[in-house]
Amino acid sequence: MKNKFTLIATAAMGLESIVAKEVKALGYEDVLVENGKVIYETDSLGIARSNLWLRTADRVKLLVGEFDARTYDELFEKTKALPWEKYIPEDGEFPVIGKSHKSTLYSVPDCQSIVKKAIVERLKQKHGVARWLKETGALHRIEVALLKDKVTLTLDTSGSGLHKRGYRVGQGEAPLKETLAAALVQLTNWTPDKTFYDIFCGSGTIPIEAALIGQNIAPGFNREFAFENWDFIPSTVHEQALEEAEDMANYDQPLDIYGTDISHKLIGIAKENAMEAGLGDLVTWKQMQATDFHTKETGGYIVSNPPYGERLGDRKEVESMYRELGKALQQYPTWSVYILTANEEFEKLFGKEASKKRKLFNGFIRTDYYQYFGTR
Ligand SMILES: C[S@@+](CC[C@H](N)C(=O)[O-])C[C@H]1O[C@@H](n2cnc3c(N)ncnc32)[C@H](O)[C@@H]1O
Repeated sequence: MKNKFTLIATAAMGLESIVAKEVKALGYEDVLVENGKVIYETDSLGIARSNLWLRTADRVKLLVGEFDARTYDELFEKTKALPWEKYIPEDGEFPVIGKSHKSTLYSVPDCQSIVKKAIVERLKQKHGVARWLKETGALHRIEVALLKDKVTLTLDTSGSGLHKRGYRVGQGEAPLKETLAAALVQLTNWTPDKTFYDIFCGSGTIPIEAALIGQNIAPGFNREFAFENWDFIPSTVHEQALEEAEDMANYDQPLDIYGTDISHKLIGIAKENAMEAGLGDLVTWKQMQATDFHTKETGGYIVSNPPYGERLGDRKEVESMYRELGKALQQYPTWSVYILTANEEFEKLFGKEASKKRKLFNGFIRTDYYQYFGTR
């Protein structure tokens, strides 16, 4: 492989295996899965493809170096020994962010400033700059991450997080991250020929992600990435990845996707978001009380993130709604129902034990993804 890079696709806790599956689907078979990350090797086209296509990863980082360090001297010297000039040009901007866990060097601000100083010194030497580096050019965001005294230095190829697809013009109170919404869809057995409903759709994230998946539209098609401005990545690779994505999109795939919510206002926002995502009227949006769900079809899918009833005062109302929901949805045994909630009593309230349960984090909230498989 020419221009080989080690990439780290970062993932929310619990989503690593889904990110790994997506990486493999891009053709990068040799993946290493660790807590919160998926590690694999690519060329520069792989950087573009990963950013464009990974639906459930948070960011794609490029590994610059890894080593052990227990003193600031070690951190400085080993950082300085890395070939930063290969990545950062004379005018490149390179802020350093950091994190440290279970390590001797626990002061994150100190680690950041040591790493910054080491890179400045290296770049001044290698680029032949006598005074200071201007940093007026392209952004190369560096992260120094320490875990049990192991230092990992990366460059963030994504820029803003990959959940920022560029379609969210409006949102409700508790919108789901686009990456998690895509994961919820990918954790089902739904195929684009099947009817799909989100009956608590809010700003429409789940139906929009389902439509993008259904027509094989790259989630990053309408946004920019940091790597596009980097000198060491050929300017043609992003263009090439976009062309590939255009060829791979299946705009003729008919879809039967619905988003409904009790709030008129949110249905309006969901419509706007879908427009912005370029989906036109591919998704049908309707104001509806979830417990009024009714269908004549068989074998459909419901994927929803209802209110959790966490706020004092909401709990009773939400719990009685879950009971009603159970009664309404159990009339349709051929439908598969997937519910993400933090309410630990969900199965009891819904009146049925889930076929499968998966622990997931919605931001910092620990939730379970209750999966009820429909009968065939
Ligand atoms: C956690 S939010 C869903 C957020 C959504 N996934 C998004 O990305 O924007 C829960 C949604 O359920 C809606 N809701 C609450 N009670 C409802 C009910 N009884 N029937 C239908 N929708 C309801 C709220 O208006 C809210 O939009």
